[in-house]
Amino acid sequence: MAQSQSLNGKRVLLIIGGGIAAYKTLDLIRRLRERGASVRAIMTRAAQEFVTPLSVSSLTGEKVYTDLFDLTDEAEMGHIQLSRSADLIIAAPATADLMAKMAMGRADDLASTALLATDTPVLIAPAMNVRMWLHPATQRNIAQLKADGIAFIGPGEGDMACGEYGPGRMAEPLEILSAAEAMLGAGTGPLAGLKALVTSGPTHEPIDPVRYIANRSSGKQGHAIAAALARLGAETLLISGPVNLPDPLGVSTKHVETAREMLAACEAALPADIAVCAAAVADWRVDNEAGQKIKKEKGGLPQLSFTENPDILATLSKLNHSRPRLVIGFAAETENVIEHASAKRERKGCDWIVANDVSVDETGGGVMGGEENTIHLIRAEGREDWPRMAKSAAAEKLAHAIAQHFSLSDEGPRS
Ligand code: C5P
Repeated sequence: MAQSQSLNGKRVLLIIGGGIAAYKTLDLIRRLRERGASVRAIMTRAAQEFVTPLSVSSLTGEKVYTDLFDLTDEAEMGHIQLSRSADLIIAAPATADLMAKMAMGRADDLASTALLATDTPVLIAPAMNVRMWLHPATQRNIAQLKADGIAFIGPGEGDMACGEYGPGRMAEPLEILSAAEAMLGAGTGPLAGLKALVTSGPTHEPIDPVRYIANRSSGKQGHAIAAALARLGAETLLISGPVNLPDPLGVSTKHVETAREMLAACEAALPADIAVCAAAVADWRVDNEAGQKIKKEKGGLPQLSFTENPDILATLSKLNHSRPRLVIGFAAETENVIEHASAKRERKGCDWIVANDVSVDETGGGVMGGEENTIHLIRAEGREDWPRMAKSAAAEKLAHAIAQHFSLSDEGPRS
C-alpha cells in the first residue's frame, strides 16, 4: 500500500538527546521520511553514546550536526539557519537536562542553542527515569516549557529500561509522528485561514476559597473537536474549564475556571469564524461567595443564594458585528432529545445544535465522561442522526461538516 505523503515538503529539525530511548528515534526518522518530510538531525554529546551519528545520517540522508563550534558548519549552515529553516523542531528523547536547559534559556551546546535561536514550533518527547520526571525541579521546568508554548507528547507510563515503573517512557514513534502531523497540519487543509474557538469541560463556581459547584463533564468531546478543527487547518483556540486532559496538540489552550472567565476569554478571542460551545457551563453560581472558608457551625447550615451565569452560547449567537459566522451549541438531554434540542437552537440563536442523549445507558455508563457519543446534528435545513461512535470520530465528522459548510458558503476563509 502506498504510504500517505502527509508531510510532503515539510522540514523537520530533530534534536536527539542522550537517553536509551534514542534508539526509537531512529524509527521516527524513517517514519517521518516515509511521509515525505525531510529530516536534519542534531545530536547532543550524550546522544552519541546511545546511537551513532552514522546510523542517524544513513536514515536522514543528511549530515548530522553535533558541534556548536564546527567552523565548516557555521560557513555552510549556521545554528541559527539550522533551526530557522525548519517547519517543526522535534526533541526526542528530550532528557531532563535538555528540558532544564530549555526552561532556563541556556545555549551551551548546539542542541540548546538551536532551540533558543528559533521561533519555530517545538514538540518534545520527554524520556527519563520516573523519579527524575516526578522531581519538583523537572515539574517546574515542564510548567515553564508549557507556558512558553512548547508542545509535549508523552511520556507514557510503563516498565523502564532502569527497571522501575511509572511515567517517563518516551512516546512511541507513531505517536510522535501523529503529534507532528497535527502540528504541521495548521495552515493547510480545508479550514486553513479560518479561526475557531471551542469551549470545553465543566466550569467551577466557587462557594468559598476551598469549595465549588461543578458537573461531570470530562471535556473529552470538546477537546477532540478542537484537535479535529486544527487538523483541518483552522487556527484554533480551546477555552477549557478544569479537566484532567492534556492540552491538544496544534491548538492554543486557555485555561479558565468559572463561566464568567470563560465568557471573557471567548470575547477576547473574537473575531472568529467558528465557535463551538461544547462546555458544560454551570447554569448558576453562588452570589454570596464567602471570602473565607465557611465554618461548620453547630446546628447551622450555610445559606447559599444563587444567581444565573451568563449564557456564553446565547451571548456569542446574538452579537451583532463580531458574531462568529458559524455558531454551534451542544444540547445534553435526557428525554425528548430532538424536540428539546431544536427548541434550544431557536432560543439560543445558534446555527447548529449537536444534540446528545446523556441519560445513563443500559450498561450503567453514560455519555458524560464516557468515550462514545450518539449525536443528532440539528440545523435549519434539517437533522442528521449519526450512529453511536467514539467521541474522537464524532469530532472528526463534525469538523468535516464544518469544512463542508464553509466550502459551500461562497464566503470561504476570511482574507
Ligand atoms: O442551556 P443548556 O445548558 O442546555 O445549553 C447547552 C449549550 O449552551 C451548550 O452548547 C453549552 O456550551 C452552552 N452554554 C453556554 N453557557 C451557559 C450554558 C450553556 O455556553 N451558561
